[in-house]
This record gives sequence, structure tokens and C-alpha cells, in this order.
Amino acid sequence: MIVIREATVKDIDKIILIESEWKNYYSCWGRDGFIKEFEKENSYTFVAEIEYEICGFINFWVIFNEIEINSLVVSKKFIRRGIASLLLSKVFEFSKKFNIKRLILEVNENNVAAIKLYEKYGFSIYNIRKKYYDFKYDAIMMERFL
Ligand SMILES: CC(C)(COP(=O)(O)OP(=O)(O)OC[C@H]1O[C@@H](n2cnc3c(N)ncnc32)[C@H](O)[C@@H]1OP(=O)(O)O)[C@@H](O)C(=O)NCCC(=O)NCCS
Repeated sequence: MIVIREATVKDIDKIILIESEWKNYYSCWGRDGFIKEFEKENSYTFVAEIEYEICGFINFWVIFNEIEINSLVVSKKFIRRGIASLLLSKVFEFSKKFNIKRLILEVNENNVAAIKLYEKYGFSIYNIRKKYYDFKYDAIMMERFL
């Protein structure tokens, strides 16, 4: 069974291990980055666990009545099992509870898996930042209204 729960500082080791699996693909925050996130009042991290093993996480900020999703990462050995979908559902549930009106995020144009995932859950493109990543690849900015 997959369990989604709010992360604590104790989970940082596992979280950074998972992000390091994708380091060529995704810009990691690392330990210091996550420590700072746990200190911010408006920053939330949820983890997905299978039999007490953390297999993915999502981080987002609440800014007034919007949520900005900063990262959504699943360990390679657990991909395509609906874990990212469950983590996103948790954010939708959270959004309803806190009267959030809009969700936004930014994704590299090359990240087909993530773009497909976000499209599946109702996100659409509202802007493109040209050559945003490494002065080479566009950032696709997506939104979903609630
Ligand atoms: C993107 C990512 C989070 C998807 O996680 P996941 O747990 O495998 O996703 P799910 O199993 O919930 O997939 C849900 C939907 O996403 C889409 N999807 C996921 N992986 C895909 C892939 N490799 N190719 C195409 N579509 C994909 C599909 O629409 C899928 O629905 P389906 O299974 O019915 O076809 C994962 O690949 C990952 O961690 N990537 C590296 C980090 C990253 O780039 N994060 C996003 C930017 S922060």
C-alpha cells in the first residue's frame, strides 16, 4: 500500500538520495536546500511510502491563494506505478482545504514524462520562458485552476 504523509526533517537523507538519482535531469536542492525549505512557513513537502520506504516526494509553496509546485520526484525503481499521481492528488486535496484557486509550475521542455503527467491532471501551458534552462531549453509554465 502507498501511504502519503507530510515529510519531516528526518526524511531529508532519503529525499536527497531520490533527487540525486535524477541529477542529470532535474536541478537538485540538496541537503542545505531542504533544510531551508523545512524552515519556511509556506513550504510543504509530502512523501510517498511503500512499506515505510520513501519512494517519492513533492514540494510546494503556498503563496496567498496559489500553490507553486517546485519539485515532484519518484525514485527510478518505483516509476510508472502511480506514485506521482498520488502525490499530486494530495496537493489537490490540500488545495481544496485551504481554498487555493490556482496551481502553477515550471518544467523543462525536454521533460516529456512530467509534461504528460501534468497534462493528464489538468494543467495547461500559460507561458514559455525561452532558453531558460542552461540558456538552451525552454521552461514550460503550466497552470491549473481549481
Ligand atoms: C515525472 C515523474 C515524477 C513521474 O512519476 P511517476 O510516479 O512515474 O508517474 P505516474 O506513474 O503517476 O504517471 C502518471 C502519468 O504521467 C505520465 N507519465 C509518467 N511517466 C511518463 C513517461 N516516462 N512517459 C510518458 N508519460 C509519462 C502518464 O500520462 C502517466 O499516466 P499513465 O500511466 O496512465 O500513462 C518521474 O518520472 C520523475 O520523478 N522524474 C524525474 C523528476 C522530474 O523530472 N520531476 C518533474 C519536474 S519537478
